Amino acid sequence: MSVLDKHAKLERNVTLLFVWSLVAVLIGGIVEIAPLFYIKNTIEKVEGMRPYTPLELVGRNIYVREGCYLCHSQMIRPFRDEVERYGHYSLAAESMYDHPFQWGSKRTGPDLARVGGRYSDEWHVQHLIDPKSVVPESIMPTYSFLAKAPLNTKDAAAHLKANRAVGVPYTDEMIENASADLEAQANPDTDTSGLEERYQKISLRNFDGQADQLTEMDALIAYLQMLGTLVDLEAYKQNENLR
Ligand code: HEC
Repeated sequence: MSVLDKHAKLERNVTLLFVWSLVAVLIGGIVEIAPLFYIKNTIEKVEGMRPYTPLELVGRNIYVREGCYLCHSQMIRPFRDEVERYGHYSLAAESMYDHPFQWGSKRTGPDLARVGGRYSDEWHVQHLIDPKSVVPESIMPTYSFLAKAPLNTKDAAAHLKANRAVGVPYTDEMIENASADLEAQANPDTDTSGLEERYQKISLRNFDGQADQLTEMDALIAYLQMLGTLVDLEAYKQNENLR
């Protein structure tokens, strides 16, 4: 029986075809999955990543609530045009504490993965209140109400706990101090030593420029200003060359 005859037999027998298709899919599946059992971690560890501070986390929730992700991705792909425009491509570890993650390919506006520190707080306030006043051709909607919306500080601990339940390493101490830490980060007049010990590389200031009240604008800008600033990419690049 020639190979062709064998194949013809296989094609005409539903049971045989099913069994051999299954075998082919199984081999393919094992080849793809087996290596993952032998490496300790699929996410490369990098220096500098830490969980979000309570203020950043609440700001992130506002980002998700307002649907900013519908126009903005947070994922710089390793292509030259992206890297030249936005900076070093995104590392998997940079979104390891993101629930839900903010990757995507839908970009009506620019990628925001490394927007932290690119503009001043004042620029962000002005841009969120009236995008056209700083970028005349902008089609981004206005979010001026955020500057007037008082920030809910009471639920901070619950948000931290929810994130811990899905694997973010928040400590009991972080959860206990969540509300106080949230207020302290935007009010540099308070004692922030505990907060600075709990979270590395943290920005402490009044983000929205209004001294009298803590608003949703404070939280959102605290979040935007930390995006992409945690990992020391220069050190990472040097390691990359050594490998
Ligand atoms: C309808 C689409 C749309 C939505 C929704 C949207 N944006 Fe934008 N965004 C844009 C566009 C377009 C630009 C580019 C023009 C400009 O700078 O305003 C932009 C620019 C930005 C920039 C400046 C980025 C840079 O590198 O210059 C930031 C920061 C930003 N948006 C934040 C936000 C936040 C925060 C939200 C949610 C509260 C949001 N955007 C919602 C469309 C959108």
